[in-house]
Amino acid sequence: MKKSQWLGALLPSMLVTPSLTAASLNCIEGTPDAQDLQQWRLEAAQQLEQSSITERALADQIRTCFGSQIPMCLQRLTDYVNRNDTASSSLDTPVRSSPQKQPPAQLFLSGTTAFEYRVPENIEERAATLGWPAIRYKSRHSGGFDRDTASLLMIYVPGDRLNPPVPYDRWLNFALPEDPASEASRPTPGSPLPSADDYAAEERGELALPKIFTMVSLDRRQGTTPGQVYFQRFLRPGRGDPTFKPEGNANPKRCVSCHPNGLRAISPLGYHVRKNENMLDEESWQTVKLINDAMVQAAGQRPVSWRDAPARSDSTQRKPLLQPAAFGPSIGPMAPLNGRSRTQAFINQCAQRRTVVEVRDIFGRGPGRNNVYRLSANPEIDAAKVLRAMNCGACHGTASRSPLNTLTDWAQVDFKILVDQSMPLGTHKNPLESSTGDVQDNLNADERIALANCLQAEFELETQEIAAWLTQGSCQ
Ligand code: HEC
Ligand code: HEC
Repeated sequence: MKKSQWLGALLPSMLVTPSLTAASLNCIEGTPDAQDLQQWRLEAAQQLEQSSITERALADQIRTCFGSQIPMCLQRLTDYVNRNDTASSSLDTPVRSSPQKQPPAQLFLSGTTAFEYRVPENIEERAATLGWPAIRYKSRHSGGFDRDTASLLMIYVPGDRLNPPVPYDRWLNFALPEDPASEASRPTPGSPLPSADDYAAEERGELALPKIFTMVSLDRRQGTTPGQVYFQRFLRPGRGDPTFKPEGNANPKRCVSCHPNGLRAISPLGYHVRKNENMLDEESWQTVKLINDAMVQAAGQRPVSWRDAPARSDSTQRKPLLQPAAFGPSIGPMAPLNGRSRTQAFINQCAQRRTVVEVRDIFGRGPGRNNVYRLSANPEIDAAKVLRAMNCGACHGTASRSPLNTLTDWAQVDFKILVDQSMPLGTHKNPLESSTGDVQDNLNADERIALANCLQAEFELETQEIAAWLTQGSCQ
C-alpha cells in the first residue's frame, strides 16, 4: 500500500480537505460552463491522486454525470480511468474472417487445407516476381520470436499492388536458420530457407528449425480515419512438421511494448552504423529504408488505432482493444510536468546514473550479444545538447506518432538511443545519408548515455504527476 493510501484509509476526514471529498464529485447542476468542468476535473484528478476515489468509482461517476456526451476536456480523464476496461482480444474477429490477418496465399506452397502455410524454399523469388520488396536481415536486440536465430526475412506486401487492390498493407517476418558462427558479423544472412530434407533431419532430431513467423498489417489511413493495426503469429510444432498455423488472436498488450505505433521500423545489423562497422550493401540498405518509410506512410504520419471488438460475446456494444495514449505521462515530453528536470543541475545529477548500460539481445543471439555501453573515464557531456535532445515528444505523443509511456519497454528507448542511435531522429547520419559519406553524429557516446539516463530519471518523476497530466489543457 502506498503511504498516501494507508493514511487515507486511516484518517480520511483529517487529511482530505472538505472540497476534495467524494461528495464534491457530485454531478454539476445545470449546464456546466468551462470553468465548472475545469473545477470538476481538477477535483476528480486530485481525489484520484490521493486515492480518495477509486478509478472504477470515478469511471462510474463520469458515466452517471455525463452519459455518452463526454466533454472534450474530460476525455483524457475518462480514457485514463477506463484504460484497463478493454475488449478481450479473444473476441476480436478471427483469422478466418479477417483478410488482414491472412498472409497472401501466393507466397506459400499449395496442397494444404485453408489457413495452413508451408514456406517454399524460393519464397524470395516469388516475392520478387510479384513485385513485393523483401529483405534478409539480422535483428540486434528483440526482433523475431525464435530464440535460436537472429536471422530474419521480411516481405512487404503493398495492398495497392495486388489485383484487385486492397486497402491494407502487410509486413511478414520469417525466421531463417542461424548463420554459422564464423558469419555472425556479416549483415546479410546466408542460410537458405529450410528444405524438405532439412525438415526430415529435424524429425530425426538432428537439427532444430525456426518455428514462428509473424505479420503486422495496417488498414491504411483514409482521410481522418486512423490506420488500423492487426498483429498475428503463425506457429508450427516442430518435429519435422513444416506446416505453420495461425495462433489465436494476439493480445495487443503483448506487442505494444516494442511496437508503440503498430509497425516497428526494422533496424538490422549494418543499417544504422558506427564508424568501421560492417554495412549492408547499398541495395539492401535502400530496401530496408523503403520498407521502413512505407510503415510511416501507410499510417499517414499519424498514430494508429488498435481497433475495437465486442465488449462481451453476447453484446453489440464495442470497446477498444487497447488505447495506448490513455496510459499516463509520456517519456521525453515537450513540456515536462515535474517542473525541474530540464535544468543544467538536473542533467548534472542524472547524466551518470548508469555508468554501464546493457542492451543485449533478449535471447542472447549473436548480433546483439555485446550491446554494452560504458561512460568514458572523464565523460564529455554538454548538458545543453542533452537538454535539447530530451524533446522526444516533438514527435512521440503528438499528432504524428503514439506516445512512449509506461507501456513502453525501457530497453527499446535505450536501443534507439544507444544501439542503433536512430533517436532523436536526424541526430545520427549513416554514410548513405550524410553529405560526407561518413558516419556523423551530433551527440557523442557519453552524451547518448547521459540522454538515456536523464530521460529515465525524468520519467520516474513524470509518472508521479498523474493529476497534472489529467488536467493539462484548459476547458475553454
Ligand atoms: C521485445 C520487443 C518486441 C515485442 C514484445 C514484439 N516485437 Fe515485433 N518486433 C520487434 C522489433 C525490434 C522489430 C523490428 C525488427 C528488428 O529491428 O529487429 C519487430 C518487428 C516485427 C515484425 C515485422 C514488421 C514490423 O513491424 O517491423 C512483425 C511482423 C512483428 N514484429 C510481430 C510482432 C507481434 C505479432 C508481436 C506481439 C505478439 C510482437 N511483434 C511483439 C520487437 C518486438
Ligand atoms: C523528429 C521526430 C522524432 C523525434 C524528435 C524522436 N523520434 Fe523516435 N521515432 C520517430 C519516428 C518517425 C519513428 C519511426 C521510425 C524509426 O523507428 O526509425 C520513431 C521511432 C521510435 C521508437 C520505436 C517505437 C516507435 O514509435 O516506432 C522509439 C523507442 C523512439 N522512437 C524513441 C525516441 C526517443 C527516446 C526520442 C528522444 C530521445 C525520440 N524517439 C525522438 C520520430 C522521432
